[in-house]
Amino acid sequence: MRIYKVGGAVRDRLLGKPVTDIDWVVVGATTEEMLAKGFRPVGADFPVFLHPNSGEEYALARTERKSGRGYGGFTFHASPEVTLEEDLIRRDLTINAMAEDDQQNLTDPYHGQRDLEARLLRHVSPAFAEDPLRVLRVARFAARYAALGFTVAPETLELMRQLSESGELEALTPERSWKEISRALMENQPQVFIEVLRACGALKVLMPEVDALFGVPQPPAHHPEIDTGVHTLSVLQQAALHKQPLTVRWACLLHDLGKGLTPEQEWPQHIAHEFKGLKLIKAVNERFKAPRDCQELAMLVGEYHTHGHRALELKPSTLLELLQSFDVYRRPQRFEEFIAACEMDARGREGLEQRSYPQADYLRGAATAARTIAVQPLLEKGFKGPELGEAIKRERLKALKAYKENA
Ligand code: CTP
Repeated sequence: MRIYKVGGAVRDRLLGKPVTDIDWVVVGATTEEMLAKGFRPVGADFPVFLHPNSGEEYALARTERKSGRGYGGFTFHASPEVTLEEDLIRRDLTINAMAEDDQQNLTDPYHGQRDLEARLLRHVSPAFAEDPLRVLRVARFAARYAALGFTVAPETLELMRQLSESGELEALTPERSWKEISRALMENQPQVFIEVLRACGALKVLMPEVDALFGVPQPPAHHPEIDTGVHTLSVLQQAALHKQPLTVRWACLLHDLGKGLTPEQEWPQHIAHEFKGLKLIKAVNERFKAPRDCQELAMLVGEYHTHGHRALELKPSTLLELLQSFDVYRRPQRFEEFIAACEMDARGREGLEQRSYPQADYLRGAATAARTIAVQPLLEKGFKGPELGEAIKRERLKALKAYKENA
């Protein structure tokens, strides 16, 4: 039995990046031998085991063949005869298809090291096409390593295009797709993920609502970059630069979907795009079964981002409605995330990246003003039920009027 480190751990060590989890491949062993050594099987007929102490994954060297459509359509062949080279050739990218023994001797039959130096994301073999999730993986790696100068090799992009056109992406489960999307959005250059998906035609399949934003103009006075797709990518980039959480990044990506629905004769205006976009945001949310906090924030930011920008002009009653919509009294964090998404939207415009955004503090102040209303004195005055609700609202409105006058 020979054991090698494989995949991301080898890649990241060679790149000088921190290695978080290590995957191992075991050549020349049987399931029985692994079990006898105390390894715990991961699944019934999947040749992967967990180390009894470290919990790291050890996979028997295997070949994989696609026997049908979708993720279920695989047959695995793991046996002591499968060589390291045979195991590596079925992997996605050359930079992920290197192995290392315990002396750090590299096995690199598909020239991963050469591609690391050339900063190229290149598929290992036609077996790439056996898992369509790899289209998303490559786009994610492109986002992660963009700062190092990595690009997708033209022949790999072509293969990704064929896969996107083949209908295979539709067979991906929402869970697998979301895992890639959410990880990609948390990279430093998440906009590259979307760009690569767009370049290979996968964006049109996965998120046609986002794809449709490219080529849609906006008024140059507010949007010097003009193109809505370009704007969306800049907003996402700002969200990453400002280290925003996933909820905010997801909301940034989807905030302007309504602009893709505007009839051409109305361009570059987008009247009521906030409201019109809601059904599209809902559809994308549900397609990927995004977590509830991501779904909620995306819907709220979609509906109210223009309110955020116009905060200083809003009537106290509108301000109150905004705060109520966010349930800012019980969910202060969500309102903070809304403010952050609005600020990213304001900065994700050509030449305006450094602008100040006084709306943020103004909105925070309004939330504080409304939150200071105490319920107890109203209870003591005898208000209850719906009347109590109305009384609280009146007091909050009063507080917001005073706040606006003094701001
Ligand atoms: N792999 C693959 N195709 C996939 C998933 C994984 O070929 N769809 C292979 C690659 O060789 C990869 C290894 O399995 O390097 C481990 O996969 P994973 O842990 O998902 O990714 P890493 O490459 O380790 O990358 P990350 O740093 O993103 O975890």
